[in-house]
Amino acid sequence: MIYITRREVFSASHRLYNPGLSEAENCEIYDKCSNPNGHGHNYVLEVMVAGEIDPKTGYLLDLKKLKRIIKENVTDKLDHKNLNLDVDFMEGIIPTSENICIAIWNQLEGKIPAGKLYSVKLYETENNYIEYKGEKYGE
Ligand code: NI
Repeated sequence: MIYITRREVFSASHRLYNPGLSEAENCEIYDKCSNPNGHGHNYVLEVMVAGEIDPKTGYLLDLKKLKRIIKENVTDKLDHKNLNLDVDFMEGIIPTSENICIAIWNQLEGKIPAGKLYSVKLYETENNYIEYKGEKYGE
């Protein structure tokens, strides 16, 4: 088993807000992150694919192909967008890093032509990242 990773960056804005809760509750849970006019992040995304090397090419998966798949399905749709308003696959989802990470996984799953999607890592700041491997907690 070999693992390859493609790193991409995108910039997006969001507001952490649960429409099912009161203003006061949103303020208590999300504090500054619930600022009505939003705020932005420079996100770093790492997509890892696991598999076997194709003896014909010596590649698991051509990283140029992985780059294109991420661009078309994820970063072109997120870059310079408002995650609360502009992104079809984020509709109705509170745009925390956890939820964005899972939404990105769902966008990529089934579209990797060799090997399998192994993990999606999303850095919202230098010191915080979220990782999703397609598993449900407790399973
Ligand atoms: Ni934020």
